[in-house]
Amino acid sequence: MTSDPIQFHLDVVRSNIQKQAVDPALISSAREFFDRSHHLQYSYNFKWLERPIIQYPQDIVAFQEVVSTVKPDLILETGIAHGGSLVLSASMLCLLDVIEGLDPRQSHRKVVGVDIDIRSHNRKALDDHPLRFKMELIEGSSIDPSIVKQARAHACNSGTTLVSLDSNHTHDHVLAELDAYADLVSVGSYCIVYDTVIEDMPAGSFPDRPWDIGDNPKTAVHQWLGEHPEFEIDNDIDNKLVISVAPDGFLRRIY
Ligand SMILES: C[S@@+](CC[C@H](N)C(=O)[O-])C[C@H]1O[C@@H](n2cnc3c(N)ncnc32)[C@H](O)[C@@H]1O
Repeated sequence: MTSDPIQFHLDVVRSNIQKQAVDPALISSAREFFDRSHHLQYSYNFKWLERPIIQYPQDIVAFQEVVSTVKPDLILETGIAHGGSLVLSASMLCLLDVIEGLDPRQSHRKVVGVDIDIRSHNRKALDDHPLRFKMELIEGSSIDPSIVKQARAHACNSGTTLVSLDSNHTHDHVLAELDAYADLVSVGSYCIVYDTVIEDMPAGSFPDRPWDIGDNPKTAVHQWLGEHPEFEIDNDIDNKLVISVAPDGFLRRIY
């Protein structure tokens, strides 16, 4: 046993997470919570620095841990909606700058957000946001070749890159996004694919959407990983969270 108290704490946490991963009662109660809370649109309940963010809190914390570890220079996101995830990324990039003794306004760190429809009230709120200087907004479909070109241009000479995919959740769209952007991810960094959980939910959970079991981000991830051994699913994150919209969606680039 280690005498380092921090290492002792981390060892206990790791052991607890391993127990969680094989605890059927915890896993089924989390599943039950997820399905019920989804019906109540639980993911809409939260804000980040005053902007609505459409995420589960567990995934927000996981994102913070990933960003703290990877220390990206560029975060490329698809799916802006009200801008909460964009503001989350911008705020994390500012914190990384401060931790490194950099002036956030002078550093090259930034988040690039792509959305097919940046509604005027959301654009205004982002334009008025104090962290707007960290953001680039691109309006158009994330798989339109001209939009892909614009978004990828920001990655030239940008150092460590992290990609986050949270737009249209059909299999074909996510597969096309992975093909368009995942190669920008730096070794040791992540491509985070949200809403993979659709594959694990009851059939018909999204009656007004084109995605369902068999046609969603998780099916795209599994197909894409078959041809991309340079990425692996970070199961430690899934096992830690238990409740997440992104099971099998935290993809770490290993070479
Ligand atoms: C789930 S919301 C994004 C939530 C946001 N990431 C957050 O955490 O607050 C999905 C967004 O994807 C956008 N979207 C849908 N189809 C798209 C496409 N083809 N290209 C880019 N964005 C798209 C929608 O307009 C919507 O704003």
